[in-house]
Amino acid sequence: MKFFIDTADVGEIRELAATGLVDGVTTNPSLVAKTGRKFIDVLKEICALVPGPVSAEVAATDFETMLEEGRKLAAVAKNIAVKVPLTPAGLKACRALAQGGTKVNVTLCFSAAQAILAAKAGAAFVSPFVGRLDDVGSDGMSLIADIVQIYDTYPDFKTEVLVASIRHPIHVIEAAKMGAHVATLPPAVLRQMFNHPLTDKGLAQFLADWAKTGQSIL
Ligand code: E4P
Repeated sequence: MKFFIDTADVGEIRELAATGLVDGVTTNPSLVAKTGRKFIDVLKEICALVPGPVSAEVAATDFETMLEEGRKLAAVAKNIAVKVPLTPAGLKACRALAQGGTKVNVTLCFSAAQAILAAKAGAAFVSPFVGRLDDVGSDGMSLIADIVQIYDTYPDFKTEVLVASIRHPIHVIEAAKMGAHVATLPPAVLRQMFNHPLTDKGLAQFLADWAKTGQSIL
């Protein structure tokens, strides 16, 4: 399972990339707005920090402008994945960009029917938003189960399921159990995944007992 970090904060990405656990990054217009910085500058910095795909979202809604924006974003670095919304124009742009060799992440997916369309459009990734579905009383994780099952049924679907809008480590565990290819994690969720009180307690005990031996390994 690949881990992407869901942020446009270069400082956070630098810190978390140092763990060696980060495969890529997802951004969106809201995350870029939070930085207050120029989108292209932020993208260049992020692409140098992580080896894997960095999702950069178009801002246009019509096919021609999406395509133009997508090509401009793809030219920023080799590891850019252009993000397009799951609309008819977005899927048309997805098809055109994918045919030109660009990886495309189709975002704002809220149904299995939409995920089928994204796969047929040649998306490298589809991003179902589990947290936002949970927020409106739907079961976000059951959508992931449906998409994984459908994609597994058709080997010619090469699209990876990128679980987005993750709110807590349970979403990550459930996504992993279902065989989702990627989880994009807010930095706080990745940090939460390290934590267990028994790890802290056990380590404190081991260190105390080790001190009693009076030894040093080095
Ligand atoms: C990722 O690609 C999405 O933009 C992101 O996960 C959305 O998360 P949110 O619902 O917490 O804004």
